[in-house]
Amino acid sequence: MYAVHCMNNISTVGTDALERAGYEFVDDPDRADAWLVRSANLHEIEAPAGLLAIARAGAGVNNIPVERCAQRGIVVFNTPGANANAVKELVICGMLLACRDVIGGVEWVHEASDDPQIAKRAEKAKKRFAGCELAGKRVGVIGLGAIGAQVADVLIALGAEVMGYDPYLSINAAWGLDRRIEHATELSDLLAACDFVTLHVPATDETRGMISSVAIAHMKRGAVLLNFARDALVDEQALAEALDDGHLARYVTDFANPASANMKNAIVLPHLGASTGEAEDNCAVMAARQLRDYLENGNIANS
Ligand code: MLT
Repeated sequence: MYAVHCMNNISTVGTDALERAGYEFVDDPDRADAWLVRSANLHEIEAPAGLLAIARAGAGVNNIPVERCAQRGIVVFNTPGANANAVKELVICGMLLACRDVIGGVEWVHEASDDPQIAKRAEKAKKRFAGCELAGKRVGVIGLGAIGAQVADVLIALGAEVMGYDPYLSINAAWGLDRRIEHATELSDLLAACDFVTLHVPATDETRGMISSVAIAHMKRGAVLLNFARDALVDEQALAEALDDGHLARYVTDFANPASANMKNAIVLPHLGASTGEAEDNCAVMAARQLRDYLENGNIANS
């Protein structure tokens, strides 16, 4: 039977399924036929000669040297869609955090918690935390794959006007969005029209740096940018300047790095999008199933 090495902690529903099927888990990556990975950076690790497959429990494969693997005949899988619901929910949460100063309000209560007059003070303080509503706002969704399409669906339910941009999809045909969203044929049209812009594309040669100083200049003054896709999509220096001078009101991102962590008016999370028990289980089950289907039947999915 096959030997598998886990590069990261992978939900046990996936690893148990493999064990039940007779797979052996080994500590030594060089002894494995296949690797299971979540966030480990494999660009710096040389795969052993006999490695047959790498399964990533997640959608993006930026942490895997896909081309080098292809040259060596190592099949790489990902799990598109398996964590889409979790990411979608956090994106909507991020949008609402940009609308309503929940973080400021919670901090205020924490600081005032010992004051017996807190209720009276809260009534006065609440003006400071007044926000806006998503309903009626125009939200641009860049990329209408599994996550972007789900985000668009929820936004429609919340009463937002959704504009989509995805040069690889016919939006009217895809994901059941029908005519419920506007279709931008140019990225610049979407950027110029929207109050909120949310990114849902992978980081590729085509998309890296797509939110450049030029793209930001197209955006409405006071717009909010959300990035739960990959930090490489954004020119962070240009973005920091736009936040500093007030051209953009907010940046909400799931990618903490030295640049984003110090940006004015940014809400920065430590890559939590897919961090729910449900998403981790789904990704692990899908990755395990794909591994088995390849190793036992020669079928290749999502490579
Ligand atoms: C993804 O690509 O789906 C995410 O990066 C998953 C994760 O958080 O590991």
